[in-house]
Amino acid sequence: MALIAGASEGLGAAFSDYLAHAGFDLVLVARRQELLQSFALSMQEKYHTRVSAVCCDLSSADASDQLMCSVDASEIDVLVYNAALSFIGPFESDSPEHIIKIATTNMITPLKLVRVVGEEMLKKGRGAVILMSSLAGFQGSGFLSAYAATKAFNRILAESLWYEWRHKGVDVIACCAGATATNNYKLTNPGKTGLLSPSVQTPEQVVKECFAELGKKPSVVTGYGNRVANFLMQRLIPRKTAVRIMGDTTRKIYRI
Ligand SMILES: NC(=O)c1ccc[n+]([C@@H]2O[C@H](COP(=O)([O-])OP(=O)(O)OC[C@H]3O[C@@H](n4cnc5c(N)ncnc54)[C@H](OP(=O)(O)O)[C@@H]3O)[C@@H](O)[C@H]2O)c1
Repeated sequence: MALIAGASEGLGAAFSDYLAHAGFDLVLVARRQELLQSFALSMQEKYHTRVSAVCCDLSSADASDQLMCSVDASEIDVLVYNAALSFIGPFESDSPEHIIKIATTNMITPLKLVRVVGEEMLKKGRGAVILMSSLAGFQGSGFLSAYAATKAFNRILAESLWYEWRHKGVDVIACCAGATATNNYKLTNPGKTGLLSPSVQTPEQVVKECFAELGKKPSVVTGYGNRVANFLMQRLIPRKTAVRIMGDTTRKIYRI
């Protein structure tokens, strides 16, 4: 069975579709009940697989406990943690309460879930964990500061567990996407910045590339253009310049 946290649209829906196509039963998690249930039904009808929909707000402090009351952790063979909360703008403009929600959704809940589910996978000697990360998590990313820091956290967590669990039958990967045409991305209303405009992937492209590298690498940067840009930013230019480029680009894209 595959559990997808943040499943009802965009990348989460693409992960769910890929896994149902591969023959997995699904547990789909999101907040909006109607959307989640209609997506669950569509997966059931398309793949004739068992699909359950669990409404849960992953930003609440006890989200992981709530989920583990609805799902038997020992039955989960694939865990995809896709949901994330972000804030675009000056760090000091976001409320302290919202920053805590970002940290809980993006770090604390996945950390707790991976701890519980990973232990069960290790007992079985098989399983896979995918944590969604982002290019924003590779260097300081001004005006995305809290979000970017949580994405760095996820990448480092996944890469560390890849090393620890690779000979124990449990594959772990951080999926580091660049701009991806999901509803959430479109809702941010990104503008163009000429040469520095990100090339946008479809959710299906990101998911396909992620599964192609699962079990082979601790993390994957999806999209050829993203890999080239990330190589330049991480290896060829000074850190200070990379941080400046990232902040300047975000400022231009979001007209801050
Ligand atoms: N889109 C991009 O350009 C991009 C780029 C790099 C990395 N990423 C990463 O990819 C992942 C998906 O990104 P996305 O923004 O494009 O979203 P998405 O794939 O459209 O996923 C959002 C899904 O998560 C659910 N969700 C969001 N907050 C939740 C919460 N608190 N509790 C439960 N479910 C929640 C949403 O349903 P409900 O709203 O109904 O809860 C929806 O099903 C994120 O981890 C993001 O950091 C995205």
